[in-house]
Amino acid sequence: MKNLVILTGAGMSAESGISTFRDAGGLWDKYPVEQVATPEGYAANPKLVTDFYNERRKQLLDVKPNRGHELVAQLEKHFKVTVITQNVDNLHERAGSTEVIHLHGELTKVTSSWHPNNPHYIKELKPEEYEVKIGDKAADGSQLRPFIVWFGEAVPMIETAIDYCERADVFLIIGTSLNVYPAAGLLNYVPAHVPVYLIDPKQVPIASGRQVNVIRKGASEGMEELTRILVGEQ
Ligand code: APR
Repeated sequence: MKNLVILTGAGMSAESGISTFRDAGGLWDKYPVEQVATPEGYAANPKLVTDFYNERRKQLLDVKPNRGHELVAQLEKHFKVTVITQNVDNLHERAGSTEVIHLHGELTKVTSSWHPNNPHYIKELKPEEYEVKIGDKAADGSQLRPFIVWFGEAVPMIETAIDYCERADVFLIIGTSLNVYPAAGLLNYVPAHVPVYLIDPKQVPIASGRQVNVIRKGASEGMEELTRILVGEQ
């Protein structure tokens, strides 16, 4: 089977009711990014940041995967699919995708504030544990922090993601403004002969000038069209 690598961003989950970041009324309009998504913000006000992620986790209980997530999962019948997502929700997994790389962490996990990337301290929360409190401790005795890659932090999964991009036979981008590096640079690792598709209702500038097949639609409708292109009528 051919390798299909799919890079997704917040637009993938927009039709499930999760706000994007940079669209009008997006999350970064409502919450100052320096306060809730940087190590400095966390150091300054851990309670505010803990509550922000508690809210995001609570929202996971109210949303479900959309048709776009489902169609992404269904492509596993035809391709070896690897989803590389910037999203911290779990909607790809809940739609049935089996190979999901989370570049920016996962809402359902927490970790040590001292050693956030040490797998020993990363813990998956059950839905009834979604509300983390100041005073809840990781196994090393440090305050539990969200397993989220904040601005200014290293992106440990980027090397794995690059490996997949280098081996892609088809590359697809869905719902990301490609503003945030290193994720936005992944397209540069996709070999030149590999066809690239992009699904987004808005125009997304491609810094490298690489030719992409643009489907100017939302994730669900765009995935219907892309599925027809890649595998024909079902
Ligand atoms: N279907 C597909 N795409 C959509 C939809 C939709 N229904 N609605 C909006 N979009 C597109 C927007 O046009 C935009 O291009 O989704 C994109 C969302 O862009 P951003 O809000 O910038 O989100 P993203 O690119 O995922 O942000 C990257 O930045 O804030 C950090 O860590 C955060 O992972 C995030 C990263």
